[in-house]
This record gives sequence, structure tokens and C-alpha cells, in this order.
Amino acid sequence: MSRSRKVAFLAVAMTLVAAASAAALGGERYGLGQQASPALIAGWDIDARPDGQGLPPGQGTAADGEAVFVERCATCHGEFGEAVGRYPVLIGGSDSLASSNPVKTVGSYWPYASTLWDYIHRAMPFGDAQSLSVDETYAVTAYVLYLNDLVAEDFVLNRESLPKVDMPNRNGFIAEDPRPDTPVGTPCMADCKGETKIMFKSKPLDVTPEGESN
Ligand code: HEC
Repeated sequence: MSRSRKVAFLAVAMTLVAAASAAALGGERYGLGQQASPALIAGWDIDARPDGQGLPPGQGTAADGEAVFVERCATCHGEFGEAVGRYPVLIGGSDSLASSNPVKTVGSYWPYASTLWDYIHRAMPFGDAQSLSVDETYAVTAYVLYLNDLVAEDFVLNRESLPKVDMPNRNGFIAEDPRPDTPVGTPCMADCKGETKIMFKSKPLDVTPEGESN
């Protein structure tokens, strides 16, 4: 055995011994990390789900959200969600999804209003994420929905009303691929391919330099 091989062998052996003893000690602590406090978990646990789970108490209307949008969003998304430059457009695109140039927006594409709330709350304004209050988030979410003609200006958006907002593409996401050339049903897990024929073999190229023993 060459020297480098011996060293590698020793390293592997030591890792195995360490792993085995860690397993034997069962949950031994190494003085790293800390117990996650409820406040710490709450900071991470911010997802809002389609059925409204996770949405905090609070509310806002599109009328309230207009000022927030103009001040915090319009520089990138345009005053009416029409987008500035190459920033994402937030409105329109209905009936474009099946075309060769689909315009995917909140109105045309997003299946749930909860995703909009979650996304704005989590990630917007770009560069200053999570700086909106809960009420501002409800209000500005209502405003984006209003810009897409999905709610009225005075519609009160809160955790009860939000899951009920009817999103146009709600049923546009389907589990099965409708393309005719794509097999549907249970994927094949055994003996799926017929006979494999070897057409030709590659020639040994001998590219490994000789004279090195390792
Ligand atoms: C500095 C520019 C900027 C500002 C200000 C900003 N956004 Fe955005 N927004 C972006 C960018 C960039 C993306 C795309 C981010 C990505 O794909 O990772 C985005 C994405 C979005 C999307 C998803 C669009 C889609 O269909 O994929 C929504 C909704 C949105 N922003 C809403 C808002 C709202 C509401 C505000 C104000 C509270 C806001 N944004 C402020 C730049 C901005």
C-alpha cells in the first residue's frame, strides 16, 4: 500500500469510528447551535397556504393599498402593475397562457391568492423584504388583486376572505400531462426496455499516463 493510500484508509477508518461512537452515544451534544425558541420558529414559520392556514390576523382593502403600492412598489412594477423596464408585470395576460408567448401574471397564472400574500410578505419590496406590516401586506395584496379585476376596491381582505378569492387559473394546474405522446399512468419500474443491442464498441484510447504507481 502506498503512503497516500494508507493515509486515505486511516482517514476513512477514523471517520467510521467517529460515526459509530456518535451513534453509540446517541444524541451526544457537541456544544453547537441552540434550542430553537418559539420566537425563532415563528420567524421562519411564515408560510400562508391556499386554505388560509398561516395567515395572521389583520386586514386591508385595495383603497388602503393604493398608497402603499405607489410608494413601495410602483418604481419597479409601474403604478398599475404594468411594469417598468424588465421588472415583472403584475397584471393582464389572460388568455395568453396557451399561446406561444404566455404572459404569466398574478391575474393570468397564479392559482391561489394566498401565494400572492405569502410572496409579498416574504419577498417584497425587492431589496427591502419583510418591511411591510401585516395590514399593509393585506392592503397591497388587495390592490394587486384589484388591478387584476379580481376584487372590488372596498373588498376587505383578511384571513377569512382571502382563501375565497376566485383566481382565474385556479384549475389550470393539472396533475396529469395531457400531451398525447407522454405516457400516462403508473411509471414502469422493471423490465421496461426491450433488448439492448450493442452496435459498436469504443476503442481503448490509452490516455492514462504510464509509470505512476498509486
Ligand atoms: C426594486 C424593485 C422592486 C420593488 C420596489 C418591488 N418589486 Fe416586486 N418584484 C421585483 C422583482 C425583481 C421581482 C422578481 C423576483 C424574482 O423572480 O426573484 C418581483 C416580483 C414580484 C411579484 C411576482 C411576479 C410574478 O408573477 O412572478 C409580485 C407579486 C411582486 N413583485 C409584488 C410587489 C409588491 C406588492 C411590491 C411593493 C410592496 C413590490 N413587488 C416591490 C422588483 C420589485
